Amino acid sequence: MIKLPTNKLLASDRLLISDIDNTLLGDRVALKKLITYLQSPDLAFGIATGRSITSAKQILLEWEVPAPDLWITSVGSEIHYGSNIQPDTNWRAHISYQWQPELIQDAIADLSGIKLQSSEGQSLHKVSYLVDPQKSPSIAEIQAHLRSHQLYVHTIYSHQEFLDILPLRASKGDAVNYCTTEWGFAIEQVLVAGDSGNDEQMLAGSPKAVVVGNYSSELEKLRGQKDIYFAKGHYAEGILEAIAHYNF
Ligand code: GLC
Ligand code: MG
Repeated sequence: MIKLPTNKLLASDRLLISDIDNTLLGDRVALKKLITYLQSPDLAFGIATGRSITSAKQILLEWEVPAPDLWITSVGSEIHYGSNIQPDTNWRAHISYQWQPELIQDAIADLSGIKLQSSEGQSLHKVSYLVDPQKSPSIAEIQAHLRSHQLYVHTIYSHQEFLDILPLRASKGDAVNYCTTEWGFAIEQVLVAGDSGNDEQMLAGSPKAVVVGNYSSELEKLRGQKDIYFAKGHYAEGILEAIAHYNF
């Protein structure tokens, strides 16, 4: 067990996990109200983002968001805890099963309309691309192409632009499930919030989920699905709306 100075994950009976870009951040007034709510003593706070841990730290600092108790970064391929940002090395070991990033890059190099993101977008268990949907094969074709090379991975598409390739065991949803079990939360005690494709798995797998009003079109398919609340409010306003909706 990882030791923490003050561990709100152990002491809380509710856990709010939010995506960062276009979900938590976007409306400073609503964010202030949400930050006040986050002070509740029995509520733990987590983020789940496509950003790396370094980039997540920086943007939260810029927006004056207090350090989360749980950091799910690089689209669920990294987990850290607390203000001292302690890595979960068990998670790293667990997801490394069958992970062959060099072979993935070689296989994708055959395809047109898809190019590697800068080094900032790459991490140990995440290979990320920029896609031009006019020129590239469809996501289903990219998946089939990888499978034909015996590469079994998660392909995650967001904003009609970003393609993240992750180990089969990693996604924001997988990371959320792992953390809730690890820290003794029942899934009903967890509220998840997101706006785009890399949030889909965590939203679809959770009995308390909110898609904020300014969501990206790839989440339209979740509409009408049980347990997913589509907020009218944008950004943190949408999260506040869901807190009221679920009486969380
Ligand atoms: C963040 C990451 C990028 C990823 C995108 C979508 O912008 O920096 O690498 O592709 O999220 O998940
Ligand atoms: Mg987002």
